[in-house]
Amino acid sequence: MSRVGRIFKRQGPLPQSGEPMQVIVNTNENINGTLVLPLWQDSKDMASGSESGVHRSLKNQIENILADGDFKAKAGTSMTLAGTEGGKALLIGLGKEKDATLQVMRESGAKVTASRGKIHGKTLTVKFHGMEDAHMAAFVEGMILRDYSYDHYKTKDEDDDSDDGEIKVHVTCEDDKNAALQASADTSSAVATGVYLARDLGNAPPNDLYPMEFARQAIEFGSAHDNVDVKVINYDEARTMGMGGLVGVGMGSYRKPCMVIFEINGDKPGPSPCIVGKGITFDTGGISIKPSPSMDEMKYDMHGSATTFGVMQALVASGHKDRVIGLTCMAENMPSSNAQRPGDVITTYSGKTVEVLNTDAEGRLVLSDGLWYAGTHLNPSYMIDLATLTGAVVVALGHEASGLWSNNDELLNNIKTAGEHCGEIAWPMPLFKAFEKEMTDSKIADVRNLGAGRWGGSNTAAAFLKQFVPNMEGTDEQIPWAHLDIAGTAWGAKTNKLVKTGATGIHVRTLHHLITGQ
Ligand code: BES
Ligand code: ZN
Ligand code: ZN
Repeated sequence: MSRVGRIFKRQGPLPQSGEPMQVIVNTNENINGTLVLPLWQDSKDMASGSESGVHRSLKNQIENILADGDFKAKAGTSMTLAGTEGGKALLIGLGKEKDATLQVMRESGAKVTASRGKIHGKTLTVKFHGMEDAHMAAFVEGMILRDYSYDHYKTKDEDDDSDDGEIKVHVTCEDDKNAALQASADTSSAVATGVYLARDLGNAPPNDLYPMEFARQAIEFGSAHDNVDVKVINYDEARTMGMGGLVGVGMGSYRKPCMVIFEINGDKPGPSPCIVGKGITFDTGGISIKPSPSMDEMKYDMHGSATTFGVMQALVASGHKDRVIGLTCMAENMPSSNAQRPGDVITTYSGKTVEVLNTDAEGRLVLSDGLWYAGTHLNPSYMIDLATLTGAVVVALGHEASGLWSNNDELLNNIKTAGEHCGEIAWPMPLFKAFEKEMTDSKIADVRNLGAGRWGGSNTAAAFLKQFVPNMEGTDEQIPWAHLDIAGTAWGAKTNKLVKTGATGIHVRTLHHLITGQ
């Protein structure tokens, strides 16, 4: 591609990551490639049964290392063995058996992919012995999730012989556990295609991924699957329909905003789960412009929409049979002569007016139209929105958890439990009446988009969103709704061992588990 062509317009579809690593569970006693041996802390020998098929000299080497206490197998540690005639091995420390959790096992599996390097090659054989089904499954899931990197924009040297190609993993365990482990590995791979997609979208540079490009990819996804319908509400339609939140935020950019609606298994009766995502493909702050340092990170401000799309992909790949809805609010928040101003009053799709006091509080504006549209047109049983909504949630929870608000205790608990199960923590936060009052005391409009002070900023943002959750038809009770503020978990979480760098794909697994129970 010529440089000139590249500068102005990306040619062809956006790059996408390939399929997850192939995982083959079998009882084959042979070791293919490098032996990977997960070990409990302070193991003094290889678990009896896991030595079969291991070359004698490699077995002796491992037994000596364990007997001498040279590898203690603490959680998060590994040791590489090479140079004997018996082949190569990677010892993985699992920590103490009594402390084992699904997350420890996932992180241990991730350690395999992270420390594989050139020395271990592309073929591995993991030998489990005497381990619980759920622990083995989580270990395999961790291997798959960590096996992702975003290097599509690095030009490749033709002679590059680095082995970052596809990995093939053989897994062996007791005969009677084989079938269950293969089934869970297959589900993990299916769900991982959604996680990878969310990461691809999150990592994509904002010059190439803009609202209508996201919509184009969604339409392509819809055409590829018989049970998926995708509808796009474009800029002109959004204006005609009175979507003042989406239009107000997106109108300052040459790249116009849109709303994307996914429906899976639309022939099945509703009401159905509905996932709503904030999709700001770049957030400059608009006229209330952000400071320059780290502004590049605002390409991730569409991770709510990336997760939504990722959940749709995961559901399709895992063969989900019931109806599920996804809706993403796409816009680029730019300063320009066309942009909205602090002081503007907009009329949202709900009919409620909003005083825009800060154009950088744009996520809540686009979501106000998304939530209202979803609640009034899409027949949701519940709505869950995901948004990189506030810096304040990062102050509150760091990078360890997403903030979770809900108008319904049962929904809140179900999301919290699903998050815990998947190692993607969603932490309950309050929806006090005082926060709602703060957001509804604008002098000239129904709602204001900025709290009166900066305290509790993630709570006032959630209280704003609550104003745009419609009631269930014929009642004065709101549709069950939850809000996940993923500003601290969508990227840059250095303690997230399942991700090398960049977008995390956060909550694709949580929501897939919540919806399917798988
Ligand atoms: N996208 C940002 C939130 C954000 C900031 C996410 C930093 C991750 C890291 C959002 O649109 C925003 O700018 N929020 C403002 C709201 C404020 C003006 C009320 C914020 O958090 O500062
Ligand atoms: Zn902003
Ligand atoms: Zn934003």
